[in-house]
Formats: sequence, C-alpha cells, structure tokens
Amino acid sequence: MTRTILGIESSCDDTAAAVVRQDDEGTVILSSVVFGQTTLHAAFGGVVPEIAARAHAEKVDHCVEQALLKANVKLRDCDAIAVTAGPGLIGGVLSGVMCAKGLAAATGFPLIGVNHLAGHALTPRLTDDVAFPYLMLLVSGGHCQFLIAHSDDRFERIGGTIDDAPGEAFDKTARLLGLPQPGGPAVERAAATGDPKRFKLPRPLLDRADCDMSFSGLKTALLRARDSVIGPDQTLKAADQADLAAGFQAAMTDVLRAKTARALDIYLALSPAEPVLAVAGGVAANMPIRHALTDLCATSGVRFVAPPLALCTDNAAMIAFAGLHRLARADFDDLSLSARPRWPL
Ligand code: KG4
Ligand code: ZN
Repeated sequence: MTRTILGIESSCDDTAAAVVRQDDEGTVILSSVVFGQTTLHAAFGGVVPEIAARAHAEKVDHCVEQALLKANVKLRDCDAIAVTAGPGLIGGVLSGVMCAKGLAAATGFPLIGVNHLAGHALTPRLTDDVAFPYLMLLVSGGHCQFLIAHSDDRFERIGGTIDDAPGEAFDKTARLLGLPQPGGPAVERAAATGDPKRFKLPRPLLDRADCDMSFSGLKTALLRARDSVIGPDQTLKAADQADLAAGFQAAMTDVLRAKTARALDIYLALSPAEPVLAVAGGVAANMPIRHALTDLCATSGVRFVAPPLALCTDNAAMIAFAGLHRLARADFDDLSLSARPRWPL
C-alpha cells in the first residue's frame, strides 16, 4: 500500500514543509524544504517569538507549495496532512496548524497533529534500520532529554536538563565571548585552537546518580572566567577566547558523556536485542561531542546512530514520518486541533 503525506513544521525558527511516501519497499523523502530565520533574529541574540511568528505566517503557504512542486506531487495525491501541534513558540505553531487545517478542510483529508519531540525521536528510523527499543539523546537549542523509544507512540523520558538546553548554552557562550550566532559552530571553531584545561569550569550534577543535567551554572562560571581576563576596553584576546571556548566545550562534552553513560545503563537493563543510541538536534553536529558519544558506544557494545544533519535539526520530513505512523492506525485529529506551547511526550 502506498501512502503519501504532507508534513508542516513551524515550532521554532524554521518554516518547513515536506512530502514523504511510504510503500512496501520502504519510506522515501520526496521533498524537504526549510526556510530558516537565522538572519531575522541575528541582531537580537536569540529567537524573538513575535518576529518568528510573523515570518512563519508569511512563509508557510509558499513553503508548502515548494515542497509539493519539488516532490512533483499534487495536493490531491496526498493521503493526509501532518503538522507540528507543539511544543514550541505558540505563534509559530499556530501558523502551521492554521495552514494545515485550511488544507485539510479544503481537501477533506485527515489532519494529524504531531508532537515535535516525537518527530525528532522517530527520525533514526527514517534513515536507518533501527529496532525498538532504542535510546535517544535529543540535544538542540530548545531541548535536552534522554528518551527510550519503546514503540512509535511510547517514549519514556529518563532524564534531561533542568534549566538551559545545550544549544542555548552554546549560543549564550558565543555571545559572552563575542562570537557570532548560531553560537554552536562558532564556539566549536574557536575551541579548536584552545586549551580546555586553562579555565576550571564546573561539571554540574555529576554527583547525582540520575540522568538530569544543568547548564546554567556553567554559563555563570564562564562569565566569571571571562571577566577575569577581559581587557578594560571589553575585548578578549584571541587566545583567551579560544581557551574559554575550549573549556566550555570540554565541560559540556564531559557532562553529556557521563549522563549518557547513566542513560545507557538504564536502557541496557531492558536487554534490547540490537542496542542503539541515536542522537538528534543541532548540538549533535558538534564533533568533540559526537566523538565522545561514539567512543562511549563502542566501549558499551551499542550502535551509535546519527541521522544526516538536515534531519537532526528542525525539518518537516520528520513530522510527515511521525504522521505516517498515525495514518497507518487511522489516528486522526479534527478541525478542533489546538496548538500547544507545552506538550511533554
Ligand atoms: O536542532 P536545532 O537546529 O534547532 C532547535 O533548537 O530546535 O539546534 C540549534 C542549536 C543552536 O543552539 C546551535 O548553536 C546548536 O544547535 N548547534 C551546535 C552546533 N551546530 C549547531 N552546537 C554545538 N556545536 C555545533 N557544531
Ligand atoms: Zn526541534
């Protein structure tokens, strides 16, 4: 049986649409279009919800049109419309949901409101042959959690950040060090030539035996370290900038590695037949973090799966893919579907 689904995503600062098709042979992404908003928010040092909402409202129809064109699919050839219904910035989520409702009302096709986190959590199965249960580490600008995916609709959260998300911490670090946004890649580049041991930065919550993490103390410690070396004209020497970036990245890597080791203990106690640790989120692009996790998996007998970066970061193919599972069991929403700023899995 062939099923074709349109997916729409607008929960943060990417307006995205995709067409995904599934048949007996497997799943194919026919198109995946993403309109990023980085330049719109660059001057503000973070995503401004009002600006994001307006940009989503302006772009979402065009984005859907482009996704259908690229896939060479007519709207009438789709079987359902899947849309991120939360969690996220409410103005953006609303733009996507209203667009999807309009399309569903006009075509009579089923409407499926997808949890954005379920989209990320199912992504490893979109590109790899990954069996349930698998362990998922979601590390992005807005999220940080360990999930055990037991099935396509049962995810168990076994820990996560109690304050900032790692991507947010990378972005704030970049601002403190006078580096450009998005901060993650800029900090990684600066750290490459730095000495990670020069500044003593904390590894928060490692004394706790659970999988929870905290990054706000690390940020404060970094601010103090920076102020200890910043010049009277408020500028940093390149060498200081590199050492601070390297110190921060090393602390982040150590925490993620240690907490992932604990999450693996919990997961491996389930005796999965084919153990897998999968990552998603923009921070999963960070090479030192990726190497630390790859290394940890190798010593634990666990396969490490990192989907291609375009599918690790926000996109609509993952929303369409999550929607396909709901379509298969005829689990639909109706036009009363609401946008939810908070929606734990
Ligand atoms: O998943 P994502 O594209 O968007 C959401 O937050 O949903 O993640 C973006 C985050 C940003 O905070 C960015 O600084 C971070 O991922 N990031 C990185 C790297 N590339 C992107 N963090 C560390 N190292 C990187 N190479
Ligand atoms: Zn996301």
